[in-house]
Amino acid sequence: MTDEDYLLAKSKKEYLDFMKDAVASYAPGRIEFLGNHLDYNGGCVLGMAIDAGIHALGVPKTDSSFELFSDVFEGAKISGSLEKLEKQTGEKKWGNYCIGIIHVLQEMGLAPSHGFSLTLTSDLPMSAGLSSSAAVELATALSLLQLAGKKISKKELVMLCRKAENKWVGLPCGILDQGTSTFGETNRIVRIDCEGEEFSTLPLPSNTCLWIFDTGIKHDLIDSLYGTRNKECLDALGILRRKEPELKSLANCPSELLRRVKLPEILGKRSLHVVEEQARVQQFVEGLNEGKSPRTLGPLLYESHRSSSLLFENSLPQLDFLVDSLMNEPDVYGARLTGGGFGGAVLAWTSQAFDRQKANSVAKKYQESWQDNPSFNCFLPSEGAGVRNPIRN
Ligand code: GLA
Repeated sequence: MTDEDYLLAKSKKEYLDFMKDAVASYAPGRIEFLGNHLDYNGGCVLGMAIDAGIHALGVPKTDSSFELFSDVFEGAKISGSLEKLEKQTGEKKWGNYCIGIIHVLQEMGLAPSHGFSLTLTSDLPMSAGLSSSAAVELATALSLLQLAGKKISKKELVMLCRKAENKWVGLPCGILDQGTSTFGETNRIVRIDCEGEEFSTLPLPSNTCLWIFDTGIKHDLIDSLYGTRNKECLDALGILRRKEPELKSLANCPSELLRRVKLPEILGKRSLHVVEEQARVQQFVEGLNEGKSPRTLGPLLYESHRSSSLLFENSLPQLDFLVDSLMNEPDVYGARLTGGGFGGAVLAWTSQAFDRQKANSVAKKYQESWQDNPSFNCFLPSEGAGVRNPIRN
C-alpha cells in the first residue's frame, strides 16, 4: 500500500466512524394543483410532491445542545438547548420551522434525549409557492425521529408537522402542504380529504407538464392576510351552524344552505369560493376517473383562479396577468395561482409542446408590463418524504 492509499483508507475509516450514528432524510416541495384554501375548511385538495426538496443530515451530540445550519440561510446558523427552546427572529426566523418540530416532538415524548447538529441542504426554490416550509418541517421531523429511535405513521407525521406550524410558527394552515409532500408518488396527484384526514393518489394524465411561474412577490403581510381569510371562513361556518348545527365544515356546506342564510357580504363571497372550489375538485376527480381529456379538465383550474381573484380576493393583478397570459397560449390547459396567494406563484398545466421558449415569451410579456422578471421551472410529480441513508458509497 502506498502512503497515499494508506492515508485515504485512514481518513475514510475516520469519516465512517464519525458518521456511524448519523441519520438523513428528505422531503420534497409541493404544487397545489386544485383546491385553494380548502384544507383548513375541511375540503378535498389535490397536489403533487415535486422533484426538488430539502435534505437533512443529523449527527447526535453527547450534551443537550443543538445546532441548525442551512445552505440557503448561510450565516444564519442557530444554536440552542433542548432544555429551553426559544423563538427565533430576524435572519434566524427560518429556524422556527425546525424548533417547532422539536417542541411538538418533546410534547409527544418523541424527541431525542440528547443534542444534535442538523444540516439542511436544498434544491427547492424558497418562498416560491412550493412550500419549502413544510419540506423543512418534514425533513427535520424524519431525522429527529430517527435520532430518538422512534417510528410513527405517515399520517401522524403530517399531523405533527402541521401542529408545529400552527403552534410554534403561528400560521393556521391546514394539511395540504405536509400531506402532499409526505404522500407524493411519481406521476401521481395526491388527493387529501381534509375532513376525514384520508390520503390517496390518482394518475396525472400522461404527456402533461407542470410549470411554476414565480412572481417573487412576498411581503410581511402575507401571513396576516392568510390568518384573516382563515378567520373569515370560521366566522361564516359559525353563522351557518346556527341554522344547521350538524354542518361539519364550510367546504361541505350545501349550496342550498348558503343561499338560504344571509351572510355578511365578505363572508358570503369567501364561503361561495370555498363551496364552489370543493365542487370543482370533485368535478376534476370524477372527470379524471371517466377518462376526460386535460383539454376538458384544464378550464377548472382557470375557474379556480377567477374565483380566488373575485371571491376569495387572494390574488394580485400580477398573478392575474400571468394567468391570463398563460391561458392565451394554445399549449396551456389551465392556469391558476398556487398556494396561499397574495403574492407567490402561478401554476400552468400544459401539454408537452409547451417548452422553455414559450415559457420565456410569457415571462417577457410579464417583464414588459411589470418591469420584473418572473422565474419559471418545470417540475415532475415525484416520491414523497422519507428517510435516507446518510452514507452512500
Ligand atoms: C398555504 C397553506 C396551505 C393551504 C394553502 C391554500 O400553502 O400552507 O395549508 O391553506 O395555502 O390552499
